[in-house]
Amino acid sequence: MRALSILAAVLVLVGLAIVTVPAISPPPRTLAAPGEEQLAQQGAALFARSCASCHGSEGQGTEFGPTLQGAGAASADFQLRTGRMPFTEGAGAQAKRKPAAFDDQQIEALVAYVASLGDGPQVPEVTVDQALVPEGQRTFIGNCAPCHGATGNGGAVGGGALAPALDQATPVQVAEAMITGPGQMPVFGYDQHGLNAVASYVDYLQHAPHPGGFAIGGIGPVPEGFVAWVLGMALLFVIVVLIGRRWTAKGGDEEHVP
Ligand code: HEC
Ligand code: HEC
Repeated sequence: MRALSILAAVLVLVGLAIVTVPAISPPPRTLAAPGEEQLAQQGAALFARSCASCHGSEGQGTEFGPTLQGAGAASADFQLRTGRMPFTEGAGAQAKRKPAAFDDQQIEALVAYVASLGDGPQVPEVTVDQALVPEGQRTFIGNCAPCHGATGNGGAVGGGALAPALDQATPVQVAEAMITGPGQMPVFGYDQHGLNAVASYVDYLQHAPHPGGFAIGGIGPVPEGFVAWVLGMALLFVIVVLIGRRWTAKGGDEEHVP
């Protein structure tokens, strides 16, 4: 009995430790190394070399790429860090996630340049919080699952486009996707709290101990199914016993007639 209560206490403590593990927040961006002006100049030069052929020398857009005036830092950061830009998939194809083509500092420079082209959303700050997972799950099931699947495994969205699996996107990229709506994805105008909640849920999916098949709703369905099974088996047992009784009470004759 003593041993049992000690074991219970240890389990509760372990549970608490898991729940209170500090939330992982994205590492702070390393800005500032070169001055702002230098950064913008470097961004402009990179843009002229790698982006202007499709987006125009002023980011005004061409037949090969949309205007970036007003796309904002969030869109540029998302497109560059997920390797979607520079676009190499060929006209009409969907931009694919690839290893980033630029290092951190070059991305900072390009993002600063694109942001300078017009008003657009800033790179969001996101806090991953375990306590927001249930709320994030509700939002996700209602708004993201129709395209990305209930477990974030991805799926087809029509027009030949694919909603990718969400196993690689960082919390910031998840928020960026929501506020910029890349490709066929709509824009979701959630407030900071809503962005945190969905990002927390996607982070939870990525770390849930069920690779390939996440147990949505946690342990709910398992005990329910088990209880139904136990009750069902008990009922069957009673019926079998009753039938057996009646059979022997009647003498079980008919069949034993020689
Ligand atoms: C070969 C042509 C091509 C090149 C080169 C290219 N892009 Fe793009 N870009 C596109 C196309 C096409 C889209 C639209 C893709 C989509 O809808 O998914 C796009 C979309 C974008 C968007 C999203 C725009 C929005 O409205 O949110 C950003 C930001 C972007 N590009 C930045 C860049 C940057 C920065 C570079 C240079 C590193 C670059 N692109 C190079 C063709 C190109
Ligand atoms: C109408 C279908 C649709 C809905 C609804 C939708 N998405 Fe998407 N999502 C897409 C498509 C398509 C892409 C690929 C974009 C591209 O072509 O560049 C995408 C891309 C993403 C990415 C980038 C993944 C990566 O690894 O690069 C993230 C993150 C994402 N979506 C999150 C969400 C979240 C969170 C929601 C709900 C709030 C959501 N999406 C709702 C269709 C959808």
